[in-house]
Amino acid sequence: MEIGSVVLITGCNSGIGAALARKFYSETELRVVITARAKSIAALRGSFKESERFLIRELDITNDDNIAALAAEVFLRWRRIDILVNNAGICYRSVVEHMDEESELNQLRTNYLGPMSLIRAVLPAMRERGFGHIINISSVSGMVAMPTMGSYSASKAALQSASEALWYELKPFGVKISIVQPGFVNSRSFQNVYLSKKARLSETLEAPYSVYYSSFSKFVERLMHMSHATPDRIANRIMKLVHQKNPPLWVPVSADANLFNILRRVLPKGIFHTLMFKMLPNPMAWSPQAPIMPGLSKDT
Ligand SMILES: NC(=O)c1ccc[n+]([C@@H]2O[C@H](COP(=O)([O-])OP(=O)(O)OC[C@H]3O[C@@H](n4cnc5c(N)ncnc54)[C@H](OP(=O)(O)O)[C@@H]3O)[C@@H](O)[C@H]2O)c1
Repeated sequence: MEIGSVVLITGCNSGIGAALARKFYSETELRVVITARAKSIAALRGSFKESERFLIRELDITNDDNIAALAAEVFLRWRRIDILVNNAGICYRSVVEHMDEESELNQLRTNYLGPMSLIRAVLPAMRERGFGHIINISSVSGMVAMPTMGSYSASKAALQSASEALWYELKPFGVKISIVQPGFVNSRSFQNVYLSKKARLSETLEAPYSVYYSSFSKFVERLMHMSHATPDRIANRIMKLVHQKNPPLWVPVSADANLFNILRRVLPKGIFHTLMFKMLPNPMAWSPQAPIMPGLSKDT
């Protein structure tokens, strides 16, 4: 990457985005724009010192006016954006039956439609210069769907499919695209999960899917705590990607992401799904009518 390259990152107030912002803060030969929603911008300004080369700006990825205004400001100031990191994302934890249209749209707007709008805002300039790298932070959930995370998986799968199409569309213009797939990350991000109205109710009431929420949330939390992948490590991998001359399209970035990637490719689908089902914490006990798997109690 050449001196003076311009980097734009979304969702920088926590997790992977914050770790990435810290890395770019010390890459003093680059010009960087870190962004956060209005509610987080004060905290972000408290963590980083703005300078001629390091800007802190408000950006809600679901707001097209916001996107257009920010892109216009950066192009006016520096005339280019070389690297876009679409990191901002949210995760609904709700079974499909409990999702409603508003929640579905919120999930899609943040994880798919917003990043697509931002790509459309920066792409013409990248294409005209014949240079640029778009990095979309997806998830292992984009390749493997899990109970209570169907909507999240669908949004990441959509992001991945469009990114794959972009790889072909942009190759002739010299613009690169990468899909980064973290698996379980050891961070506090599970505290940021969104719940639909019905999912919230089922968490507190005794309802048909209540055990799904308690069992699966504990399971995911445990896997995240056990994971060696931290936001800092993911950010290190992204920094390596940024400096690579020929960055790959698919970038699984944790041991579990690599494992799922291999299993998904080599195992027949029927075997893969049976294996995944068996890895869940006693799923047959999730339905009040269902028998408990031998040797396992209902609250395992
Ligand atoms: N943590 C994991 O286990 C994991 C695994 C695989 C993939 N990922 C992906 O990695 C990315 C970063 O997640 P994380 O783990 O670092 O979680 P996180 O700490 O919750 O960070 C997500 C960031 O996105 C921002 N954001 C949410 N909605 C936004 C919007 N409408 N406009 C702009 N920013 C918005 C949040 O900002 P606010 O401060 O304003 O809320 C927050 O800073 C996400 O795309 C996520 O799906 C995470």
